[in-house]
Amino acid sequence: AKILVLHGPNLNLLGLREREVYGDGSLERINENLTQLGEKFHITMVFAQSNVEGEIINLLHDEGRTSDCVILNPAAYTHYSIAIRDAVKAIQTPVIEVHLSNIYAREEFRHHSVIAPVAAGQVSGFGHFGYEMAFFAALNMIKRR
Ligand code: DQA
Repeated sequence: AKILVLHGPNLNLLGLREREVYGDGSLERINENLTQLGEKFHITMVFAQSNVEGEIINLLHDEGRTSDCVILNPAAYTHYSIAIRDAVKAIQTPVIEVHLSNIYAREEFRHHSVIAPVAAGQVSGFGHFGYEMAFFAALNMIKRR
């Protein structure tokens, strides 16, 4: 089985950017942790990060469609990208939405996710560990199929 982990805009700066909100670990560290989990549970992990909306959509169409599950942090696009929402809806692959921060405890404009209604589920507020939670949710979905 294969899981695509897709990180949206500005997440390449994780560990450098707003550390009080997002923590001081890097994106590489999140990916390394998920790689180890993948090895342990015999799942092929594929990683991508993009700051470009269209690229995220292409990744969902190509890599996402051939994956068994997608773990997606759409970052700021969460709140307004109907194009990414439509891409999530268009592919058959279940998509788990992840946010490091608790988006409901932050500015009002972050309270709404246009992705959530088309996602399999959402993890928000648990920092780096949220990706691990999403991994096990994905594993569970893959096993149940
Ligand atoms: C985020 C939350 C978004 O509101 C924000 O724009 C991000 C990161 C999170 O992981 O907490 O860039 O998706």
